[in-house]
Amino acid sequence: MSTHADSKPWTVPALAQAKREGRKLVMLTAYDAGFARTFDANGTDLILIGDSLGMVVQGHDSTLPVTVADMVYHTRAVARVLERALLVADLPFGADATPERALEASLQLLQAGAEMVKIEGAGFKLDIIRHLVEREIPVCSHLGLTPQSVLRLGGFRVQGRGEAAEQLRRDAAAAVDAGAALVVLECVPSPLAAQITAEIAAPTIGIGAGPGCDGQVLVMHDFLGLDSGHRRPKFVKDFLAEGGSIAGAARAYADAVRNGSFPDADHAYAQ
Ligand code: KIV
Repeated sequence: MSTHADSKPWTVPALAQAKREGRKLVMLTAYDAGFARTFDANGTDLILIGDSLGMVVQGHDSTLPVTVADMVYHTRAVARVLERALLVADLPFGADATPERALEASLQLLQAGAEMVKIEGAGFKLDIIRHLVEREIPVCSHLGLTPQSVLRLGGFRVQGRGEAAEQLRRDAAAAVDAGAALVVLECVPSPLAAQITAEIAAPTIGIGAGPGCDGQVLVMHDFLGLDSGHRRPKFVKDFLAEGGSIAGAARAYADAVRNGSFPDADHAYAQ
C-alpha cells in the first residue's frame, strides 16, 4: 500500500541530495490551504509556515505576538493539502527558550503535519537544535536577520557586514554541526551568503541573500505584490505582475529561482 510519505517527493534527505546535484530549492511561505495547494501544484519544493503570519495575516508590527497555538492552527490547514512540498513550521518567539519548551512546541507542530521546525539564531539555540535533532525532529536554522531579535537589533537591517561576517560563518557551521538540515540566510550580503553556502553541507535558502544560495524563499504577500503595511525590502519582487495569476506567479518564481535569474543584483545586497 502506498502511503502519503511514500508518494511525497520532498523529504529531509532529498534536500541535501538536491544540493549535491546543484538543483535549486524553491520555497514560499503559505498560511492556508488554498494558497498552499496552488504553490504545491506549481513548482514549490518547500512551504514555510512562517511566524511572519503575525505581520502579514494578523497585522502586528513584529512576529513577537505569534503563539504556538497560532502556528499549529495554520500548520494543520496547510498540511492537509500538500502532495509534494516539504512543510517547515517556525518555532515562534519564546517557544525555543528552553530545550523542554522547544521539544513540546516542536511535537505539537509535527503532530499538526510539519516535517521540520525552524529556529532563529545561534548561541544557546545551538544546544536546542541538537536537543531536537537527537529526538528525531528535523531542524532548519535561520541566521542573519532574525526577526524575533527585532527589539535587540532596533529594526530590520542587513546583517553580517564587516567583522560580523566571520561570526555568521561560524554560526552557520555550528548550526549544521548541531544537526540543522537546512539553513535560511536572511538579509546577508551576497558574497558572504555564497561563501557560507560553499562551506556547509546543508542547503542554504536565501531571502535577501543573493543568488549564491542553494534556494530562495519569499513571503507570499511580498511575492504577490500585496501591501504588507511595512516598508518594502529591496529583495522583494512582485511575481504576480509577471505570472498573471497566482498559479502563474508561483511558476514564474520557481522558474526564475531554478534558472538563476532571481534574485538578480537589484534584489540583493552587494555588501
Ligand atoms: O517567518 C517567515 O516568513 C520567515 C521567512 C522570512 C524566512 O522566517
